[in-house]
Parts: sequence; structure tokens; C-alpha cells
Amino acid sequence: MKKMVPDFFKMKAEHEKITMLTAYDYPGAHWVEEAGLDMILVGDSLGMVVLGYDSTVPVTMDDMIHHAKAVRRGAPQTFVVVDMPFMSYATIDSALLNAGRLIQEGGADAVKLEGGESFAPIIKTLTQVGIPVVGHIGLTPQTATQLGGFKVQGRDLESAKQLMRDARALEEAGVMSIVLEAIPAEVAKRITREITVPSIGIGAGKDCDGQVLVIHDLLGMFDRFKPKFVKSYGDVKALAVQGIREYITEVKQQNFPAKEHEFKLSDEIVEKLYG
Ligand code: KIV
Ligand code: NA
Repeated sequence: MKKMVPDFFKMKAEHEKITMLTAYDYPGAHWVEEAGLDMILVGDSLGMVVLGYDSTVPVTMDDMIHHAKAVRRGAPQTFVVVDMPFMSYATIDSALLNAGRLIQEGGADAVKLEGGESFAPIIKTLTQVGIPVVGHIGLTPQTATQLGGFKVQGRDLESAKQLMRDARALEEAGVMSIVLEAIPAEVAKRITREITVPSIGIGAGKDCDGQVLVIHDLLGMFDRFKPKFVKSYGDVKALAVQGIREYITEVKQQNFPAKEHEFKLSDEIVEKLYG
């Protein structure tokens, strides 16, 4: 049965870990639903792992909707969170318009946006009109340039305190969950204990209420840079390249297609056609 917002609060209360992964297309969504994942993220990380950009900044609303629709079709029974891309929630009006599009056109159950305390008013506006919002604090890839790159956040006293204030402000603004990315495990543990909404960690230790990873990292879809917090559970790239090489070899050697892959004409028609 498809989980809804109250189910995630219940899971937090009952200490059942929430599992989340990214999916960007129909087959990926189908795989994670079949595996029994609790929640899907159509992350703007698709800019990097699916579209080949260097960052998530170039991702557009149309990109997000295009992928969200495919994911929705592949996982009709799973809660789907869709990322709001960079600059799509810079003002209250644009946030309302674009969050609405992700829900109505993209089929999202909730939207996710990056930012702490200063985004609370925008988040509050969304939650007040009935749009479920997931927050995202710590390392926020859309503003990595401001943060000085893809770096662990909340390591000094002031920034650890700021993270706590951010989490509280988001809770107050009505988020249904908060993603904590690349922060010390102790800070994530404290936030998780002190807020009522479920925390979902990525590089934030084991004490978060749930965990999220990019599926391309989890399955080894390619062998580029691998962050410290990623554990690889498969080597899909190696399998894929091996399969593709076998195909190339068999076609070159004329072992594929074989008889069993051919369509046949009846002997009678062959006779009439070609005598
Ligand atoms: O876009 C994404 O994949 C994300 C996760 C890393 C949380 O935001
Ligand atoms: Na993202």
C-alpha cells in the first residue's frame, strides 16, 4: 500500500527507518517499487547523473516534470518527492506556481527545496496551501558555490548551531520531512531527536529517521567520483559494458541473430513468392 505523509511520522515514532532513493525514469522507478522502497526522490541530481551537467544548477522545471512523469508511471504505488530546481522557488509567487506544476503535471506527492531559516516563509506559504514540502539543509548542491564547493557542513560551533535553527524553522514552517546532507553524525542525531518531523540523512550518520542515496551511486552506474558517504551495492556499469561487448562481438562474428530470433514464412508462401 502506498505510504502517505502520516505514515512517515508514524515510522519516526516507532523507530522504523525510512528508505529513500532517487529515481529518474520509468525502469528505475519500477525497480525501486518492486524492491519495496518507502519513498522516491526525483532529485535534481538528475542534472549530473542523467543529463551530464557538472552541477544541478542548469536543471529546469521542464526537465523535472519530464522525469517526474516517467517516475510516476513506473511507481504508481510509491510516495514520490520531486526536487524544485534552482531559482524555481526564489520568490513566493514562483514557488507557488512551480510547486503546483510539479504536483499537478509531474504527479509529485511532495516537493523538496534547499534552504534553511531564510526559506521558511516560502515553505510556509506552500504548506499552507496544502503542498507537502520536504526541506533540505546542510550541503545544498544548488548553492555549493556559496558554500565553497561540495563540503561537509556544520563542523564549527556557529554552523552547527545554525543547522539546528534551520531545522527548527523548517519544522515550524510545516515541512513533512528534512533531508540532512553531509553534516556530522552528532549534529544530525541531535536534530533528529529535537524535531518532530522525520529526518532523512545522506552523509549524516545512522541516527537519522531515514536514509537517502542517489541510485546511480548505489548501483555503480558509472565509476566517477564517489563521495565518502556512498556505499556501492552493485556494479551495474561493469555488467552493462560486458553485455554490450558480447553483443558487439556476436554481431561481428555473425552469431547473433540466430535462427530462434528469426521470423519465418510458410513453405507454401516461400514457394509461391520465390519459386
Ligand atoms: O538531488 C538529489 O539527489 C538530492 C539527494 C542527494 C538528497 O537532493
Ligand atoms: Na537535489
